[in-house]
Amino acid sequence: MKVCVIGAGYVGLVTGACLAGMGNKVICVDNNKEKIDLLKKGKIPIYEPGLKELVKKTMQKKFLYFTTDIKDGVTNSEIIFIAVNTPPRKNGEADLCYVEAVSREVAQQMKSYKVIVSKSTVPVETGKKIAQTVKIYNKQKVSFDIASNPEFLREGSAIGDFMHPDRIVIGVNSKKAETIMKKLYKPLGAPIIVTDIESAEIIKHAANSFLAMKISYINAVANICERVGADVTQVARGMGLDRRIGAEFLSAGVGFGGSCFPKDLSAFIRIAEKNGYNFELLKVVKKINQEQKNLLLKKLTRAIWNLKDKTIGILGLAFKSNTDDLRNAPAISIIEMLQKEGARIKVYDPQAMEKAKKILKNVIFCKDLYLTAQDSDALVILTEWNEFKKLDFKKIKKKLKTPVIIDGRNMYNPALMRKQGFTYEGIGTK
Ligand code: UDX
Ligand code: ADP
Repeated sequence: MKVCVIGAGYVGLVTGACLAGMGNKVICVDNNKEKIDLLKKGKIPIYEPGLKELVKKTMQKKFLYFTTDIKDGVTNSEIIFIAVNTPPRKNGEADLCYVEAVSREVAQQMKSYKVIVSKSTVPVETGKKIAQTVKIYNKQKVSFDIASNPEFLREGSAIGDFMHPDRIVIGVNSKKAETIMKKLYKPLGAPIIVTDIESAEIIKHAANSFLAMKISYINAVANICERVGADVTQVARGMGLDRRIGAEFLSAGVGFGGSCFPKDLSAFIRIAEKNGYNFELLKVVKKINQEQKNLLLKKLTRAIWNLKDKTIGILGLAFKSNTDDLRNAPAISIIEMLQKEGARIKVYDPQAMEKAKKILKNVIFCKDLYLTAQDSDALVILTEWNEFKKLDFKKIKKKLKTPVIIDGRNMYNPALMRKQGFTYEGIGTK
């Protein structure tokens, strides 16, 4: 099928590359010329396993094109995905300026029937607004349909998530659009849920907020475990084997970050507020998440007392493993908190160092994790990279000034760590 994806960011680029990989003709449009120039050369502006190879392969087969020219994309496609950014405003609401701008531009270029699909995470009723805008600016009065097709891919496993989704949600209000969208996704063989547009829009916010709630819930349980000498990893296992609960998203830690959960949570709270409902539950989910970051600071002070002039080695900056994304990464706010206390910071991350150099100030960037431990008063683990699973603890212990490890991701066995002579604290473990 002929598809145009507007916005070659995380969501747009993965969507475009995967749809091209499925054998569709895909034109990816972005108004950032630098980005498009890079992509045309087969260079990927983000780190996402497998994406570079998929983009290269589909470009070579001429299934995937990149352009800054929206006219080219709209004219030559029947399905138009809007995948631009929807950044949060100060009050938590999503800023929909880019979605509006793209809707207007699409309308101005439309000369035949199109299905305009919103892929960006947007508040409920955005579909209606897109339709209204397209109607106003589409001078030729060609017919079109709007669809909402929220994306559930996770960074770090984006291609696998796109190609093997648990379900595909399609919100439509016409049979024609439903048929076209079903045809597009049929090759994936996943269950397709067809709803009205508003329900599809809500599904995305409700699903992400629910997952965020699961994480805050287990983090709250971790806090109780610590107080009574229980172990949250065992508790989570005992809970997760109940199929009604499910084992995923029950890892206690430094709290959730990323470009979606914090933003979607705030946006959903705002949507509720605007519609006269006080979504207190989600407000608490947000509060617990903030408190988890403060907890790291408390644990450090408990272990090494004052932080002023102490050196803290940080392992992991990305908001989770297998990505170089630092958006709302707990590591960034934790480092800033530690610096406020007067600590010197050394950091190491396998992928996110280049991006971090643009954000973090007065930080020593280390070439490897052992250099991060060298002469540090404590080592703090903030991202669960595979590379950190098999550390040479003898070497680490020799390098550290004092053998203190605060593990924000529960990566190691507490008893074994203590046996090796470390002062070790995880999250909610004994
Ligand atoms: C999320 C959703 O999972 C995805 O469906 C949506 O499309 C985009 O938002 P992503 O932000 O890429 O994906 O990461 P995810 O794997 O969901 O993790 C989000 C955050 O939660 C990370 O900071 C992660 O470390 C944290 N997390 C996750 C936990 O702290 N504990 C867990 O058990 C799971
Ligand atoms: P996400 O994580 O939601 O995919 P990103 O910020 O990574 O968001 O990407 C959004 C992309 O949308 C950016 O590359 C940006 O340049 C692009 N974009 C924003 N506005 C427009 C527009 N009017 N036309 C084309 N591309 C746009």
